[in-house]
Amino acid sequence: MLIVKTIQEFMNAKSDLGRKDTLGFVPTMGYLHDGHIELVKRARKENKFVVASIFVNPTQFGENEDLSSYPRDFSRDKKLLEQHECDILFYPSAKEMYPSVQPMETFVVPGKTAERLEGQLRPGHFRGVTTIVSKLLNIVGPTTTYLGQKDGQQVAVIKKLVSDLNFSTKIVVVPTVREPDGLALSSRNTYLTSVQRKKAPYLYSSLLEAFSLYKKGETNTNILKESIIKHLKNDEEIRVDYISVADSNSLEELDIASKGSMISAAIWLGNTRLIDNIILD
Ligand code: PAF
Repeated sequence: MLIVKTIQEFMNAKSDLGRKDTLGFVPTMGYLHDGHIELVKRARKENKFVVASIFVNPTQFGENEDLSSYPRDFSRDKKLLEQHECDILFYPSAKEMYPSVQPMETFVVPGKTAERLEGQLRPGHFRGVTTIVSKLLNIVGPTTTYLGQKDGQQVAVIKKLVSDLNFSTKIVVVPTVREPDGLALSSRNTYLTSVQRKKAPYLYSSLLEAFSLYKKGETNTNILKESIIKHLKNDEEIRVDYISVADSNSLEELDIASKGSMISAAIWLGNTRLIDNIILD
């Protein structure tokens, strides 16, 4: 695996690729887990070349968020990517990606899809995501970009970005990878204490409870949301940020759930924020 740290080096490496070679791209912020590895495996299966990026993007973190403490382990990430036959790892510095004098002038500003849920609670977060993803897509020029369903709203926002700004990449969404007890894999799970880790699967089981009501015929979203709240209230350490039943493309809240709706929630366990979702099928 070739590791490149500058855009110029990446361009040089890319010039070895044939014009018709397919390139699968897995953008990440590192501290890789099996969820990321599923993306790499899928990219490996479907493309001649696989590129992964590791960049903890400062513009998508709010002032009081965990940019400085975000977990990092480059040598482990590198080994994992090598094992899964990634061809190029793009590992730029913040200066390489944002060289202009601060404050930065140009951003890619997403619309309504990004203003709801996560966007409402983390102002500016998706503007940072759409800006860095645009930059990465311009640099990497992938045939296909692989994203995890775990960040359901991010998927919707990036799909809109790609279609609205005519990026030529296809987006493939890979199902969430979970621990045996249901907890969705996330780099931030490492923040949980052992007691909190035991409680964290309540998030997914609360979504499953709403899903099972839906499967029994309940489509009233207030009732589905109430069942989630009731389940989460079983533990007093859990603080709920939001519970939503929304259209999975626009993230618009729904009164009636139907096939394709996304049930999602964000909770706090101590200082750790967890998100998860289920798409109704
Ligand atoms: O999901 C992530 O890890 C990040 O938001 C992404 C897509 C790599 C952009 O920084």
